[in-house]
Amino acid sequence: MTITQTLGVVFLLFALYCGLDPFNHSPVANFPDFEVKKVDMPPWSQLPNDIDHHNLLQNSTVRFLKQIQGPESIVFDNLGRGPYTGLADGRILLWNDNNWVDFAYTSPNRSLCKTLPIEAATPFSYVKTEHICGRPLGLRFHKKTGELYIADAYLGLMKVGPEGGLATSLTTEAEGVPLRFTNDVDVDIEGNVYFTESSEIYQRRNFMQLVFSGDDSGKVLKYNPTTKETTVLVRNVQFPNGISLSKDGSFFVFSEGTIGRLRKYWLKGEKAGTSEIFAVLHGAPDNVRVNEDGDFWVAIHCRRSMYAYLTGLYPGIRGVLLRLPIPTKVQYLFQIGGKQHGVIVKYSPEGKLLQILEDSEGKVVRAVSEVEEKDGQLWIGSVLMPFIAVYKL
Ligand SMILES: *[C@@H]1O[C@H](CO)[C@@H](O)[C@H](O)[C@H]1NC(C)=O
Ligand SMILES: *[C@@H]1O[C@H](CO)[C@@H](O)[C@H](O)[C@H]1NC(C)=O
Repeated sequence: MTITQTLGVVFLLFALYCGLDPFNHSPVANFPDFEVKKVDMPPWSQLPNDIDHHNLLQNSTVRFLKQIQGPESIVFDNLGRGPYTGLADGRILLWNDNNWVDFAYTSPNRSLCKTLPIEAATPFSYVKTEHICGRPLGLRFHKKTGELYIADAYLGLMKVGPEGGLATSLTTEAEGVPLRFTNDVDVDIEGNVYFTESSEIYQRRNFMQLVFSGDDSGKVLKYNPTTKETTVLVRNVQFPNGISLSKDGSFFVFSEGTIGRLRKYWLKGEKAGTSEIFAVLHGAPDNVRVNEDGDFWVAIHCRRSMYAYLTGLYPGIRGVLLRLPIPTKVQYLFQIGGKQHGVIVKYSPEGKLLQILEDSEGKVVRAVSEVEEKDGQLWIGSVLMPFIAVYKL
């Protein structure tokens, strides 16, 4: 055989292998209707290039190591108690008297759920049972009532009283369509709840397919406590994630995860009901939290890689890559540029970058899901870490 023929045969076999995907490894093997969408990536020249040359996040203190797995959201209650956090196994815990105690849970079938010994648990240990055991992501206290509002990825929008226990459901649908991937929540003083649904198609366990497909079925929603109705404020968002009201309540910002951007949605004034770009970020944003000065801390899961940028621009390439029998975890590694890299940024209410903190080597803070500022310290949670990192400002 000539070289060309050999190559031809190899190519054919490869095409056949990929086409048949005999080991069912393609991340989209279970999604027959999988479709890729264009991502509105800003031109490379418009991406922010600020760098924390000192890798200041590496100076964080690691707390509660191997006591908790996958703390995403971190909150303190109105009396300053806490932190409270939601874990991979579905529980919401409270740090009380130097101990983690069970505070609340979202699933009525909690008795069916186990917590593995922490040495045996990984961030992925509970993924298969998340829809039964719950996966609390966004957490927020109502400043007046002391109730804790919960965005559970699988069980929808919920709340629980200051005494904890089983949370009650506020809604599992919006305008007649079931919620599929509730992600983050904020609540104003009147009890109006603003929350995000990352996708109408993909659940949390399929977040890679959600990112790679460029799926734009994500929504930003409002739950009205008087009518108990949920309405869609913004549709066709690509992976909406964190959400935070501004200090004065005149607007909220929310993350557009796939593009790597924050949008601002006006609640009051002339522009009420409209949204605009707030900031182009340094990577894929997760939660956003406002501090006492009214500035926004944004957790960036990972700095934008060239791979993420190019595949974002070219949906065709993404479609081919996802159909290859390359396991999701490997595709994830490509997406984050081969290594973990935690980034935190602070923005003024006008959208001006005020601070950037990084751990470019992923030595301490490997990936960030949320940053909560309290008494001069940043409490840093991550769905991928078995601890909370605390950074002194
Ligand atoms: C980070 O921590 C190290 C060790 O505690 C210290 O020597 C260094 O000055 C700190 N760096 C900054 C920029 O705070
Ligand atoms: C809990 O169990 C009941 C009875 O088996 C079932 O109908 C319900 O869907 C379950 N809920 C969850 C969240 O798994």
